Amino acid sequence: MEDVYILGIESSCDETAVSVVKNGRIILSNVINTQIPIHTVYGGVVPEIASRNHIDNISDVAKKAIEDANIDFNRINAVACTYGPGLVGALLVGLSYGKALSYALNKPLVGVNHIQGHIAANYITYPELKPPFLCVMMSGGNTQLVNVKDYTDFEVLGRTKDDAIGEAFDKVARVIGLGYPGGPKIDKMALNGQANIELPKTHVDGLDFSFSGIKTAVINLHHKEPDINKENLCASFEKAVTDMLMEKVKLAIQKINVSKIVLAGGVSANSYIRKEFEKIETNGIKVYMPDLKLCTDNAAMIASAGYYNFINGKIDDLTLNAVPNLKL
Ligand code: KG4
Repeated sequence: MEDVYILGIESSCDETAVSVVKNGRIILSNVINTQIPIHTVYGGVVPEIASRNHIDNISDVAKKAIEDANIDFNRINAVACTYGPGLVGALLVGLSYGKALSYALNKPLVGVNHIQGHIAANYITYPELKPPFLCVMMSGGNTQLVNVKDYTDFEVLGRTKDDAIGEAFDKVARVIGLGYPGGPKIDKMALNGQANIELPKTHVDGLDFSFSGIKTAVINLHHKEPDINKENLCASFEKAVTDMLMEKVKLAIQKINVSKIVLAGGVSANSYIRKEFEKIETNGIKVYMPDLKLCTDNAAMIASAGYYNFINGKIDDLTLNAVPNLKL
């Protein structure tokens, strides 16, 4: 089969990203313009500011992605674009740019679910990885256990009833004064701490999760004891959320009887969570974790997921709209 080149576009939150990926697995370019320094001042992403910055950046990011890939625009087989979930204004910038490109180049437009993209980051990290597998999807906006039956066939087994795990990291970090984005900062702090503070774990039936209780418990504790050791608090918070996550992962493994566990999303960059998942590797179970630079938002993962949609005939037309609460 002839090589297939997909141009991926991602703009669902605060990263403007464009990438060219060959055959769904090989990155030719991966350009990311992050707005983190801009939003840090506000302690979180300001949607309107994110949209405006995407507009300012998207053309230059796309041009650089094409230059870095050393490929002519006309050699692209399809334009893959995140169309949800995410911030509607932010999504619309990348999607409109992708539609214009698809129209001007006369190449198919392929809509990609951002969560499907996070899962596909693993196809780039592990060229041999194939479905079926259990995906533990943990990002700033989503936390779910997904039975990935095939490249474009997903069954959500459980999801958070309230906060996403990344949201809990970010809110805890903000309240205890670590700033935004909180996940990496808690990760670093926890490395020097002891998980010696007992925190309440919320129990939810089945394979669903709840992270708002633990978030509130940490915040209340910090308000009550402002001088509490932050390193220990971070380590204890990380341990408690990881225990809650692991309990459900073990249940899911029994339920669908899989041998491959695949991590995805920004929180899968967490060093404690990665170590704990390594421990569940046995003769029968292998754990896959995306390359650190592919855990958080990027367009290479969108191009990879777009490749599988494209070769499976999942192509969209120019009426495709942004869907902020898109489900898998
Ligand atoms: O996947 P992502 O880039 O965006 C979404 O699609 O939501 O995830 C961003 C989330 C943020 O909540 C951020 O704090 C968290 O991932 N994150 C981490 C780490 N790196 C990023 N959380 C814990 N530990 C980390 N090392």
